[in-house]
Amino acid sequence: MNNTGSTQYIEVQAPSNIAFVKYWGKHGRQFPINPSISMTLENCVTTCKIAYKPSDEFHLDSYKFEGQENESFKSRIDNYLRGIMDVYPALQTLSLTIESSNSFPHSSGIASSASAFAALGYALAQIEQVDAIETRASELARLGSGSAARSIQGPYTLWGHCDHIAESSDQYAVRVTDVHPNFIDVRNTILLIETGAKAVSSTDGHALIDNHPFKHARIEQAHQNIQATLSSIKHGDWEQFGTILENEALTLHAMMMTSTPAVILMMPQTIGVMHAVRKFRQETNIPLYFTIDAGANVHLIYPASHIDKTTDFITSHLVHYCKNGQYINDKNGQGARIIHGS
Ligand code: DP6
Repeated sequence: MNNTGSTQYIEVQAPSNIAFVKYWGKHGRQFPINPSISMTLENCVTTCKIAYKPSDEFHLDSYKFEGQENESFKSRIDNYLRGIMDVYPALQTLSLTIESSNSFPHSSGIASSASAFAALGYALAQIEQVDAIETRASELARLGSGSAARSIQGPYTLWGHCDHIAESSDQYAVRVTDVHPNFIDVRNTILLIETGAKAVSSTDGHALIDNHPFKHARIEQAHQNIQATLSSIKHGDWEQFGTILENEALTLHAMMMTSTPAVILMMPQTIGVMHAVRKFRQETNIPLYFTIDAGANVHLIYPASHIDKTTDFITSHLVHYCKNGQYINDKNGQGARIIHGS
């Protein structure tokens, strides 16, 4: 670390991601109970600027979100930074000011914690000037929000230990390296069905799995779905890929609906979209598939080669399911990057 005594700056950008195989359930210090794979996005990003200078003790001087001091986010970030001091001791003698902003509306229902903590983790790893920046950033991001670990690299990352994948780890995400040309340019249209605060926080959501009667079967299934998803990305098999993608989304919601207490996050519009997508696929043979996170919004995943017909279908048949007709077009991206550094 460069410790000249003066204030230094780092500004980075990190994207959100959409899980193909879902992380659902955790233990210990933000370790996943099953491995997950996601696609790193390109347009839904958090920009994070940190000014840091030496200090007798750690201090977070200010935290601005979208240009405004934000006390509730500041206290969450302050807790996070104090909580990682044992793994990042340099924080003990730094005072920081942080500014964060998103390219997408905060209340849009898009998981902003993934991009926010990926950006913070990436900035902290840059300040530290370690060699394995990506691995370190992913680990620091994970400690803030599990799914954030997967946003450091792209276009696809795997987080969580898998027996037959030597480089896989519960500590950080790794890049999926075997990608068929069919998966080079992949689109994600996010249909905003419900916006605003989530009905169930991710922490409460993950806890639902602890005493879940299907927990062990789910872990087993996630491992199988990881293997099949990796194989379909490697061989360019959209049909196998999409079948598992939808199975994962439906399993996540089935797990929530069959937990105690039961959580129902799908809305009538969510179901409407799923039926419409399946009918479109049957009629056209175009590989348009859906996935859903812990909410009502639907992420459509499809190859860029079918963008024209898919866009026509979305605008003519799906937009009316969206709140105020809102949707976001995104695609696979490369992960976190430095904007400025001194
Ligand atoms: C359903 O990463 O938001 O989106 O680790 O508590 O911050 P925390 O949880 P979070 O959980 C994401 C759950 C999910 C599936 C996924 O992204 O893999």
